[in-house]
Amino acid sequence: MNFDRSWEEIYKAGRFQRYPWDSVVSFVFRYAPRDVPRESVRILEVGCGAAANLWFAAREGFSVTGLEGSKSAISYAKQRFKEDGLTGDLHVGDFTQLPYDNEIFDLVIDRGALTCVNDSAMNSAISEIYRVMKPNAVFHFNPYADSHSGLLEGVARSDGLTEIPVGAKSANPGLINFVSRKRLDQLFGPVQWEIISIQRREDTEMSNQMQQIHAEWLLLARKRIS
Ligand SMILES: C[S@@+](CC[C@H](N)C(=O)[O-])C[C@H]1O[C@@H](n2cnc3c(N)ncnc32)[C@H](O)[C@@H]1O
Repeated sequence: MNFDRSWEEIYKAGRFQRYPWDSVVSFVFRYAPRDVPRESVRILEVGCGAAANLWFAAREGFSVTGLEGSKSAISYAKQRFKEDGLTGDLHVGDFTQLPYDNEIFDLVIDRGALTCVNDSAMNSAISEIYRVMKPNAVFHFNPYADSHSGLLEGVARSDGLTEIPVGAKSANPGLINFVSRKRLDQLFGPVQWEIISIQRREDTEMSNQMQQIHAEWLLLARKRIS
């Protein structure tokens, strides 16, 4: 499995995200089909963690599916859904091999998950995501960008991942795949994708001399009808 076990340790320590990310909220409201009842709109999140994004989507009446490498995160998410009377298909798995039929999802969310794996695993995951999307479905892809100052604090490996050491100022320790603009073109250049938008979102911390830059991509792409 292409899964960094340090995520399991983070979740075992009780560090669960509880509320959805703003880009996901906007994405769901903007791109979910409106000509059908919400319960028939199927949303998949790959690497859903504690399923905070899907918790929001389920509360809004959408039909949600989440795949996540950490058992602890899925167990927490299932309990939270149960307590809140929500339904969702949440399970442990590896997003490089999706256990779903072809062309069944209307929206697919990656929020900071594919950026945790190496180039080859990211390629496989995106090809799998494409396979399970309905024609015209939309993908929210949200990896770290290579203008992030964490890149300079880490040690680059040959597989596309950078090792961020303990004590780094710009990013949490662990493995991150910082994605370049050129790499986005490789991943989404093929004609089967229609690019809706590519934003590089950057924040610079100015309170000290380090001027750390947090940088991420928000790429939205539609699966073309073949
Ligand atoms: C930064 S967290 C994001 C969690 C969630 N998407 C959110 O926005 O709250 C990245 C998640 O990706 C998961 N992950 C990493 N590699 C994975 C893999 N190969 N298959 C499934 N999940 C994976 C991690 O366990 C972690 O929960």
